[in-house]
Amino acid sequence: MSTHLGADLSDPDVARAMVDNRLAYEGPPELGHWVIMLDDDLIGLAHLRPSKELPGDLPEIGWYLSARHGGRGLATEAALALLRRGLDEMGLNSVWALVRVDNAPSLRLAERLGFLVVGLGSHYNGAHRVHVALPGRA
Ligand SMILES: CC(C)(COP(=O)(O)OP(=O)(O)OC[C@H]1O[C@@H](n2cnc3c(N)ncnc32)[C@H](O)[C@@H]1OP(=O)(O)O)[C@@H](O)C(=O)NCCC(=O)NCCS
Repeated sequence: MSTHLGADLSDPDVARAMVDNRLAYEGPPELGHWVIMLDDDLIGLAHLRPSKELPGDLPEIGWYLSARHGGRGLATEAALALLRRGLDEMGLNSVWALVRVDNAPSLRLAERLGFLVVGLGSHYNGAHRVHVALPGRA
C-alpha cells in the first residue's frame, strides 16, 4: 500500500505513527478522516481535510485501499461518496487531490472520478499531479 507514499507502512511503528497523526486531526469537524468498511472489515482509509501542501487550507482528498480488495471499484466507490459529500452536501467550492506522477492506479482513480488536471507540483517530497474537482463537474 505504501509503495508511492514515501513511508514504509509495513513497519508497525510507521503505521502507528500514521494512524496517530490522523487521530490527532484538529481541523473543521465536518472534515477529517474516514475508514472504508466492507461488511464488518476495515479495508481502507480516506480523508477530506484542509491541505498541508496547498495554500489557503484548500480541501484535499486522499484514498488508501488494502491491496487484497483492489481492482473491483471499491476505492472508487468510497472516494466518490466522500467527494460528493464535500461538494454537494458540505458545499465546498473545490476538492483537490495530489497524486504522485508514478502512482498509476491512483491517477486512474482520479480520472475515473472526473478530476481536472491543473498542473504539476512538488509535494510530499516528490513530483505530484495536481487535480481539482468543482461543484457540478465531477
Ligand atoms: C490508489 C488505490 C486506492 C487504487 O486502488 P484500485 O484497486 O485501483 O481502485 P478501485 O478499488 O477503485 O478499483 C479500480 C480498478 O478496478 C476496476 N474495476 C472493476 N470493477 C469496477 C467498478 N465497478 N467500478 C470501478 N472500477 C472497477 C477498474 O477498472 C480499476 O482497474 P484499473 O485501474 O486497472 O482500470 C490503491 O492502489 C491504493 O490504496 N494505493 C496505495 C495508497 C495510495 O497510493 N493512495 C493514493 C495517494 S494519492
